[in-house]
Amino acid sequence: MKEFPVADRTITHQPSPELRDFLVFYLLEQASKAPFPPSDLGLRVARDSGGDLRPAADDIRAAQLLCWERGWLEGSRPDSDLPVSLSREGRAEIARRTEAERRKSAHPHPREEAAKHLVSLLSPPDEQVVLDVGTGDGFLAKKLAAAGFRVLGIDTDASAVRPARSACLGDSALQFEVADVRDLAERGRRWSKIATSYCLHECADPVAILEAICACLNPGGTLACMDFAPNCAAYLSRAGSTPFHPFRALAEGDWRYLAPDFGLTRLQFFYFGYVALVSAEKVNRNLRETKLAA
Ligand SMILES: C[S@@+](CC[C@H](N)C(=O)[O-])C[C@H]1O[C@@H](n2cnc3c(N)ncnc32)[C@H](O)[C@@H]1O
Repeated sequence: MKEFPVADRTITHQPSPELRDFLVFYLLEQASKAPFPPSDLGLRVARDSGGDLRPAADDIRAAQLLCWERGWLEGSRPDSDLPVSLSREGRAEIARRTEAERRKSAHPHPREEAAKHLVSLLSPPDEQVVLDVGTGDGFLAKKLAAAGFRVLGIDTDASAVRPARSACLGDSALQFEVADVRDLAERGRRWSKIATSYCLHECADPVAILEAICACLNPGGTLACMDFAPNCAAYLSRAGSTPFHPFRALAEGDWRYLAPDFGLTRLQFFYFGYVALVSAEKVNRNLRETKLAA
């Protein structure tokens, strides 16, 4: 499988039930449009997503096998090089999944629900300032402030921060700065609570940004991050595109893979329709070092 270097690490999406399900959906969808060779699954997904989704070999194999075992494909082998079509059961399955996605995407306010849960994860508010990375128009910063937190919203984009700042003039709980989280990390700035909303998927190198965010987190501190659920067919079917995630949102497997390097522990994942929320705590030492030393 082709590997894509990200900073000094090479990330291949780690096996996860979420990615497997996505690959099954993709395989069925492709076969429903025209006969499709199942052996093409991984490469086709990586190519069509512009390299943003690099499924692991285990996930590809599991998706091929599942479609085969359930009798959803007409063909002689689950990983056949020969184009195969959907069986009658396969057509019924894709209709069922499409309807389930339609119902999910009709979910009223996934982003609002995720933000509410994020605020509860950081509660109770105290004297410490919460850093909101990639604050933009202050969507999350304002919700945190309304719940009683003191917040510093930072963003590299001055034009995003300006209206947020003027709308909150006089609110001493809310401050905004034009800053890059990587510079803050380099300057040794630290917080015990960091939140971020819809930022990582936009970054050319989300892993480097997450690394900088984690560097800004005090040992024992809490990180809460909400973003598009990666490869989320619900979001994309509503947006009218094929179920490829056009963004760089990190999947559960990515978080678990990166956590030891970034000193994160106690990872928790929550899903609200097309929004994923991750919370984690910072450990005192690099987990990988701790493991090696043990
Ligand atoms: C889609 S906006 C999200 C705004 C807001 N948090 C929300 O939930 O609606 C993402 C923001 O992240 C900012 N951003 C990207 N890279 C950043 C970095 N390295 N440091 C700080 N902000 C960054 C972008 O400028 C952009 O305003």
